[in-house]
Amino acid sequence: MRAWQVHALGEPADVLEYGVLPDPRPGPGQVLVAVHAAACNFPDILVCQGRYQEKPPLPFTPGLEIAGEVVAVGDGARAAVGDRVLGTPPMGHGGFAELAVLDAASTFPWPEGMTAGQAAGLFITYQTGVCALAHRGRLASGETLLVHAAAGGVGSAAVQIGRAMGARVIGTAGGPEKCEVVRGLGADEVVDYRSEDLVARVKELTGGRGAEVIFDPVGGDVFDLSRRVVAFEGRILVIGFAGGRFADAPTNHVLVKNYAVVGVHWGFYRTMAPARIDEWQAVVADLWARGAIDPLVGAELPLAEAPEALRRLGSRGTTGKVVLVP
Ligand SMILES: NC(=O)c1ccc[n+]([C@@H]2O[C@H](COP(=O)([O-])OP(=O)(O)OC[C@H]3O[C@@H](n4cnc5c(N)ncnc54)[C@H](OP(=O)(O)O)[C@@H]3O)[C@@H](O)[C@H]2O)c1
Repeated sequence: MRAWQVHALGEPADVLEYGVLPDPRPGPGQVLVAVHAAACNFPDILVCQGRYQEKPPLPFTPGLEIAGEVVAVGDGARAAVGDRVLGTPPMGHGGFAELAVLDAASTFPWPEGMTAGQAAGLFITYQTGVCALAHRGRLASGETLLVHAAAGGVGSAAVQIGRAMGARVIGTAGGPEKCEVVRGLGADEVVDYRSEDLVARVKELTGGRGAEVIFDPVGGDVFDLSRRVVAFEGRILVIGFAGGRFADAPTNHVLVKNYAVVGVHWGFYRTMAPARIDEWQAVVADLWARGAIDPLVGAELPLAEAPEALRRLGSRGTTGKVVLVP
C-alpha cells in the first residue's frame, strides 16, 4: 500500500515521506479497512513535530481518523467484509495510507447518506463537541455559547452542536471569508476577532452579561480575552492551543467573577470512561439523522498531498475539515 511515514521529527513538510509499505494484516479482534478518506487534525501536525502529548515511536504513520470499507476481518472481530465504518487507527499506524488496521470494537457505522469526507472527520471532531458542550460545559438551552475559531474543525462542529442544543451561538473567526462560513453554519452572531474588538462586541451582543459557555480551541490571547467576557457562573472550555501559547488563569479572577475554567481532553475518555464514547457517538448519529448537523468539509486533497493539507491547517488556511482521499 502507499502510505506516509515520519522517520525523524520536524515540520510535516520536511519529515513526511510518501512510499510503499507492506499491506498490514488484521490481528485478533481487528479489521483491515480500505481508507476512503482520512481527516486531518491539528494534532497530526503536533505529532510530526514531537509536540503532542502522545509520542509514537519512529517511524510512524500519522492520521487520527478515517472512514472506509472493511476488506479483511481478524479472528473474533465482530465485523464483516463490506461494512462501511469510521474510527481512529492506533496512534502511529494511522490513516494517511491506503489501508489501516482498527480494533473492530472501536469502529462505528459510517452514517447513511454521509460522504466519505464528512464521515472521516466526524468522530474526533463531533465527539469533542458533545463531550465539551453537553458533558463538561453543561450547556443549557437558552444560554449564550461563544465559539472561537468557529470556521475551523472542532469550532464548526461546536457551532452546529450548540445550535442543536438550543443555545444562542456567537462564533468568532479570522477574516471576512471565514466569518461568512460561520454564518453559513448557523451562528446567530459572528465576530471577526482579528479586526473587531472582541470584548466590546460580545458585551454588546449579550447586554453586558457575557457568554455562559466559551469553547476555546485557540488559547493564548484569545483565552485572556475570554476571561473578560465570561458570564456570572460561566464555563470556559479549554479545548486546545492552536494559537501556540498556554495562557494562565489567575485564580483571584476566577474567584471574583465566579466562573470555571474547564479542561476538555476528549481522548482521555477512551481509556478512563470508554462507555461514554459509545453514548456520544449515538448522540452524534442522532443529530445527523435529524438533520441537526451537516459536517463541513472545506477541502478534499489527494492522499499524495498530505504535507500541503497539514501546511494549510497549521497556517489558518482552512475551514471545516481538510480530508485526504487515497
Ligand atoms: N481537547 C480535545 O479533546 C481536542 C480534540 C480535537 C482537537 N483539539 C484541539 O483543537 C484545536 C483545533 O483543532 P482543529 O484540528 O479543529 O483545527 P482548526 O480549528 O481547523 O484550525 C485551527 C484554527 O485555529 C485558529 N488559529 C488561531 N490562531 C492560530 C495560529 N497561531 N495558528 C494556527 N491556527 C490559529 C485558526 O482559525 P482563525 O483563522 O479563524 O483564527 C485556525 O483555522 C487544536 O489545538 C487541537 O489540538 C482538542
